[in-house]
Amino acid sequence: MFKTIIKDNYDQISSEAFRIMKEVVKEKERPVLGLATGSSPVGMYKKMIADHNSNGTSYKHCVTFNLDEYVGLPKSHDQSYYTFMHENLFDGLDIPEENIHIPSGDADDEKQACVDYENALKQYVVDIQLLGIGSDGHIAFNEPGTPFDAETHLVKLEEQTRIDNARFFDDDIDEVPTQAITQGLASIMRARKIVLIATGKKKAQAVRDMIKGEKTTDCPASILQDHPDVTVILDKDAASLL
Ligand code: F6R
Repeated sequence: MFKTIIKDNYDQISSEAFRIMKEVVKEKERPVLGLATGSSPVGMYKKMIADHNSNGTSYKHCVTFNLDEYVGLPKSHDQSYYTFMHENLFDGLDIPEENIHIPSGDADDEKQACVDYENALKQYVVDIQLLGIGSDGHIAFNEPGTPFDAETHLVKLEEQTRIDNARFFDDDIDEVPTQAITQGLASIMRARKIVLIATGKKKAQAVRDMIKGEKTTDCPASILQDHPDVTVILDKDAASLL
């Protein structure tokens, strides 16, 4: 079931997402936070760090699981999601490193890394899962066509995705990874609560398809229609086709 909240700007969107996140962090004895990379959650991450610095809100008791990671990049690579999460969130908070889980993109056996990640995730229930959405309706690296029952798995990156991301790799397509490890749609659906942030006209069709369209693997996010607790926080552009 979707609760849709429409805000005037990105700062208000980030504040609303932060408010929901903080409630979970305060209420639960051992909160399990499902985290995302990409631009959508960055404003909220800034608010978590600011609140930690000025109000002393602690995250020591939290466990985190990220959605995805590129295959073949060392953790230290400036484009790894490991680096992204440390730069944008973890370095500013007090979560113990051993409580942080990000798929191992640099494992020798990627398939085994997927199984290990899913098993680790299954030891917990994610209390709040943050999501962004792609303009094609993807969530995490689950592109159109991904079966709804998929768990953590290896994906081949679409040529278009690699071309789009080349700008982060000195405009050199050969430097862009060809594969990623991602939580599957079934893994994501186990979370108790989901908060999805989307902004801009480019996301409007995907947001519409997710909420009002048919439930189909053509729009991976449409699986969220079956989830009991999804809050979608949008700006007016992203909500313009609802
Ligand atoms: C990030 C992720 C992706 C993004 C999506 C939207 O971990 O899994 O699915 O959430 O591509 O990206 P942004 O927020 O950059 O528009």
